[in-house]
Amino acid sequence: MIYSRGVVLGILGCLLAVVFTITGCSKPAGENAQQDKKAPQGIKIGHFASMTGSTATFGQSTDRGIRMAMDEINSKGGILGQQIVLITEDNQGKPEEAVNAALKLINQDKVVALLGEVASSRSLAVAPIAQQSKIPMISPASTNPKVTEVGDYIFRACFIDPFQGSAMATFAMKDLGLKKFAVFTDIKNDYSTGLAQFFKEKVKELGGEIVADESYSEGDVDFKAQLTSIKGKKPDAIFIPGYYTEFGLIARQARALGIKVPMLGGDGWDSDKTFEIGGEAINGCYYSNHYSSDDIRPEVQKFVSDYKKLYGSTPDAMSVLGFDAMMILADSIKRAGTTDNQKLRDAIAATKDYNGITGKVSMDAQRNALKPLVVLKINNGKTEFVKLVNP
Ligand code: PHE
Repeated sequence: MIYSRGVVLGILGCLLAVVFTITGCSKPAGENAQQDKKAPQGIKIGHFASMTGSTATFGQSTDRGIRMAMDEINSKGGILGQQIVLITEDNQGKPEEAVNAALKLINQDKVVALLGEVASSRSLAVAPIAQQSKIPMISPASTNPKVTEVGDYIFRACFIDPFQGSAMATFAMKDLGLKKFAVFTDIKNDYSTGLAQFFKEKVKELGGEIVADESYSEGDVDFKAQLTSIKGKKPDAIFIPGYYTEFGLIARQARALGIKVPMLGGDGWDSDKTFEIGGEAINGCYYSNHYSSDDIRPEVQKFVSDYKKLYGSTPDAMSVLGFDAMMILADSIKRAGTTDNQKLRDAIAATKDYNGITGKVSMDAQRNALKPLVVLKINNGKTEFVKLVNP
């Protein structure tokens, strides 16, 4: 899918060329060829994303954010005198499809950089390919630490899970005064298993207790056996480091079984669909996230209102991270003065104090962005800002 002013102009150009040829007004072949060479090619950037599947809002929201950034840049004349052309490939939320998407973007479309993915497992599947091809890749939202460890061409525009897991454990114990936790993990999901581990480590360090450790797999719809076992252990709260589809169902079944304790989670809960699927069952639950739409900073409020005008809803964290990731990439191309892969890699690595919507972004030596997180509370179909946690 290519949507860009450059392409639209290109199509118009072709139509005109056809008209000129038909009417006999076409220029000599040599002149045409020269003109083609000078014609703006556009800077091609690839986005591989879950536009469909059980995490479809991840891909769709990110793509919206990226395109808002692209339109803003292109309307101001683009970068290096060229328009940005975004090519989005749907991976249906499957790691193997993410690999196919990335191979197509790199080998066929010849993109200068990759944006993606949200889910850590899909970023982990693609990162070795980007690294081997030396095509810089920026994940807007993957928080598992292993993603950027793949190599020096892999970056992210967000914080990582050791921070997120420990922040939520600290919040649960120090702010909410809870001590005994059940953890319910999506066992084949790198994000989920990583975040569960970091949460458990911090709980133990702070003198808390993990009284139940249960698991499920993405796509499961019946969680009653594990929830019954959790109920028997009488935890003060259940930590569920998973994605929104399963979390919504888990919450409903937990309430139906009479489990009343709060549920806690991470950024994977962030979706409009969470409220739809979870309904009243998720009231009083807390999760950590990359941004709060209640943030009064003018750049946040401008983004929220621009997004609402375009899409009629409040942006989630992925739209904001997609926007920031595109802006960081564009800023790096500008500073590099070229799309040469090695120079572009170096420029992304040198990103310092970039003023993003999700906060100031600097790449650390491990190519991760050091940023604060927010804790949100779910209340009647909305989130309420609870607190900001600095790294
Ligand atoms: N951090 C999650 C992961 O690494 C993805 C995610 C980011 C989900 C932001 C929602 C919001 O898999």
